[in-house]
Amino acid sequence: MHVIDNGKSSVGERQRTAAPQRYSEELLTFLRSGWAERSERTPVPIEQSACTAKRRQALSAAFPGERLVIPAGTAKTRVNDVKFGFRPSSEYVYLTGDRTEGAVLVLEPTPAGGHDERLYLQPGTSPDSREFWAPGHGELEGGRRRSLAEAAGELGVATGDIGRLAADLREAVAARPEVPSRMLRGHDVVPDALLAELEPDRLAAREGGEPTAAEARDRELKAHLAGARLVKDAWEIEQVRRACASTMRGFDDVVAELDQAIAVGERWVEGTFWRRARADGNDVGYSSVCAAGAHACSLHWVRNDGPLRPGELLLLDAGVETDTFYTADVTRTFPISGTFTAIQRKVYNAVHDALEAAIAAVEPGARFRAYHEAAERTLAERLVAWGLLDGPVDRVLERGLSRRYTLHGAGHMLGLDVHDCSGAPRADYVDGVLEPGMVLTVEPGLYFQPGDLTVPAEYRGIGVRIEDDVLVTEEGSENLTAALPCGAGEVENWVRSRRRGN
Ligand code: GLY
Ligand code: MN
Ligand code: MN
Repeated sequence: MHVIDNGKSSVGERQRTAAPQRYSEELLTFLRSGWAERSERTPVPIEQSACTAKRRQALSAAFPGERLVIPAGTAKTRVNDVKFGFRPSSEYVYLTGDRTEGAVLVLEPTPAGGHDERLYLQPGTSPDSREFWAPGHGELEGGRRRSLAEAAGELGVATGDIGRLAADLREAVAARPEVPSRMLRGHDVVPDALLAELEPDRLAAREGGEPTAAEARDRELKAHLAGARLVKDAWEIEQVRRACASTMRGFDDVVAELDQAIAVGERWVEGTFWRRARADGNDVGYSSVCAAGAHACSLHWVRNDGPLRPGELLLLDAGVETDTFYTADVTRTFPISGTFTAIQRKVYNAVHDALEAAIAAVEPGARFRAYHEAAERTLAERLVAWGLLDGPVDRVLERGLSRRYTLHGAGHMLGLDVHDCSGAPRADYVDGVLEPGMVLTVEPGLYFQPGDLTVPAEYRGIGVRIEDDVLVTEEGSENLTAALPCGAGEVENWVRSRRRGN
């Protein structure tokens, strides 16, 4: 599994590695010979290539006369030469539909206006080349790579060898030093370092805590791309629908395996959902929260190493990410035994009412905050009615007192990222209004911490969240996860019937 690497790398150049020296000359000669010629494949264009071309055109129009650099990123190291799984940057996926590690999209402005586009990536190599055997990134280890022509045919964009990136950028900067660059920084050290070398203003020190001019340019690019993703096109909406469909199957898998989960614990829930994510899609879209009992009160419970006890609730917050990298984000809270206790049902019904009130507030033209306010008001009303907070409700809401038990807002945009578009301008997102084509989560919750002495003991350790994924339509909204049981009785029937093997 481990090939000795005696190569070297330099800024701006992808690592090129000499063949391991422990190989004898005879072995090297042997390895380089006797291979069938590498055959070119007929590329099959990706179905979204028209969409990605349109997005690049829009980006070009937004930044005329500027160089734009969007890296796919590289896998993070887990330990030594072992990497975590690679997932390309969402901005890169949005603009290319591609998933190649280490690739870099460059939009070079042309004097006549518009941009020349080029996607730099590592091309396929033949087995008699040194590169084929290169430790760490050669095709011998990682599998066949596309040729540049194959990649261009699939993606509908001009391609170039990543080994030419540094030279091409140097030439471009030397020819027109006045052209400013914007890049998505922080994804790949190679283009980061390369642009820092080529554009001296990237090395300028901050003054008074203010971002430098280069930082400001890069931030604007990132914010622009986040804002551009707020309204999904028809192809993207189809991807989210697919993610939701797979996610609902994953939830059903978990309910069907509750007996095994009781025997093993939260780990079984996590593994069961993950199996569905890998079978149907690329992965989970975020770390699944498989929280039984009081773990549900920890919003980011991802250790998932506790037991499942009949009589308690299981909160599962999970989403399948499609092979095209769009994710769902769904939560259901089930009674592990199949029946809610009276207090569990009371809390569950309050959250369910908040969900319905919030979804009713999702429509085009409504403020983004409106559905959050609808959910919070419903929950505040219950908390006051139950005697947990002193009313009136308006006072509770004005002072935000209910947040002790509701903990979080009622949702966020959803798409390529689970918290999609989070860097979009506030005026367009949190302070903006809903438009058809936006996809968002609606996810009210109530959480009574095990040690919360402000509530009677019977509430403590109960955490309930219900989360659906909702598309804003011309007429109002469409709940994309409505097919998943949601009301208290529906959830009970679901658990009981699936555990009987139906
Ligand atoms: N699963 C993360 C969230 O619900 O926002
Ligand atoms: Mn969630
Ligand atoms: Mn969410």
